[in-house]
Amino acid sequence: MLINIAVLVSGGGTNLQALLDSQAYGGIVSGRISLVLSSKEGVYALERAKNAGISTAVVAKEKGETPAEYGHKLITELMANDIDMVVLAGFMLILDECFIKAYEGRILNIHPSLIPAFCGEGFYGLRVHRAALERGVKLTGATVHIVNEIPDGGPILAQKAVEVLDGDTPEILQQRVMEQAEWILLPRETEKLAASLTKLQ
Ligand code: GRF
Repeated sequence: MLINIAVLVSGGGTNLQALLDSQAYGGIVSGRISLVLSSKEGVYALERAKNAGISTAVVAKEKGETPAEYGHKLITELMANDIDMVVLAGFMLILDECFIKAYEGRILNIHPSLIPAFCGEGFYGLRVHRAALERGVKLTGATVHIVNEIPDGGPILAQKAVEVLDGDTPEILQQRVMEQAEWILLPRETEKLAASLTKLQ
């Protein structure tokens, strides 16, 4: 039986698109993306899911809700969809411990730097690339890791380096890191984890 994968998003969803394309072209075969869950209404990632015929859900964090309460809402939605594995693809909320425990070893994240550089709390989106440019590194890249309770601190599964070029802006660098690293690494590692979870079933 194929394992069910949920992709969690909050934005444009280009990493989601890379996963959907990989699934369509036979790169992801050990599991199937059966749910795209967004933390926000109206994001383009939801359109990408609908265009690919994949179920969607929106689980928004309400004002005053604790991370644990939000984590429980997420777990309820994922369990209702029989989800076995979770891929964070630009999901902007930090996950509560109860959620991480519920899916221990079965949550992947992509981070747009070579961890341990430019990672942890406060390093997301363009901030990561801005920090890399400010520090003057000549190489950056992306990292896929298992999610644990430390932000960007879980076991590293794969990394790919990308050159920083003269004249880069955070936006230009972000695009290069996505094209040359993120969109390649994330589908590949998703398939690998799905395959190893399938063996455990
Ligand atoms: C990517 O840079 C990813 O590494 C980070 O958030 C961004 C998401 O972009 N975690 P997209 O929504 O996949 O286009």
